[in-house]
Amino acid sequence: MHGINKVAIIGSGQMGGGIAQISAVNGFETVIYDLNSDALTRCEGFHNKLFARGVEKGRMSDDDVAGAKAKLNYANDINAIYDADIVIEAVIEDVDLKKKIFAGIADKFTDNQILATNTSSISITDLATSVGDAADRFIGMHFFNPVPVMKLVEVINGLATSEETTKRTIALSEAMGKVAVPANDRAGFVSNRVLMPMINEAFYAWMEGVAEPEHIDEIMKLGMAHPMGPLRLADFIGLDTCVHIMDVMAEGLNNDRYRACPLLKQLVVAGRLGNKAGRGVFDYSK
Ligand code: 3HC
Repeated sequence: MHGINKVAIIGSGQMGGGIAQISAVNGFETVIYDLNSDALTRCEGFHNKLFARGVEKGRMSDDDVAGAKAKLNYANDINAIYDADIVIEAVIEDVDLKKKIFAGIADKFTDNQILATNTSSISITDLATSVGDAADRFIGMHFFNPVPVMKLVEVINGLATSEETTKRTIALSEAMGKVAVPANDRAGFVSNRVLMPMINEAFYAWMEGVAEPEHIDEIMKLGMAHPMGPLRLADFIGLDTCVHIMDVMAEGLNNDRYRACPLLKQLVVAGRLGNKAGRGVFDYSK
């Protein structure tokens, strides 16, 4: 059993917000922490929209919504997270920032408390160097966007992760309605090792004029039964995140075949980061 009553999440972006939502909906006392109170307000607004949609679609009753909301706390005081049984960090894919956050909180999480990261590509063993003696309670818990919809949690052990930490994390993932699948601690794990080169190749196909972006996506949707084409998916993930993940794999796997396509990098430089910026490969401003 997981022995978890309270879940803390650090970072209230699309991943952190989604994790907080499924945590509360599945009955866990939940606190979502962010330095930025505007981001927390946006997150709460998004939760309310999704709850209203759940009621409209008959997936949730008014009582379910009231129950989930009562479990959800939005905090911009870090002290609110320390009594959680697990903290799940879900900030941007920046190794130094993640290490700084864990180094700042590790000594407050003692006993049986688990330190988890929702990193999509960075080595768990490397991140665990920031938590000192707590490395046995440190683990990768990689969720997928949109978190309430996607069934997978990729679970990644670092070199020092204990068997008990793994078992509790798998049990927690299942209690949140997910299927936990293990992967080893190599840059990009399995999910992004396979997904990102496909997305990167779609940018090369566009850059080399093999087809227009709409046609590249249409070919992959209709021919390969992907729910979204790779370019729209890149916009959905965030083009900056795609570049970060490619960089982590190029460095971590020491292989130039993971270098980000110049066109993908150029769009990031231009601020065309995808859905969140209103424009990426495609225009979302309307
Ligand atoms: N949060 C919660 N629910 C959402 C949502 C969100 N952000 N976006 C969509 N949904 C729900 C909708 O409410 C809808 O359910 P409902 O109609 O019953 O309310 C359902 O999902 C389907 O949504 P739509 O009808 O609006 O649209 P689609 O049928 O096109 O589905 C999609 C949208 C689920 C996003 C689908 O296109 C899809 O599965 N795309 C692929 C997503 C994917 O590959 N994700 C993984 C990205 S990689 C990743 O996250 C890892 C990281 O490390 C990079």
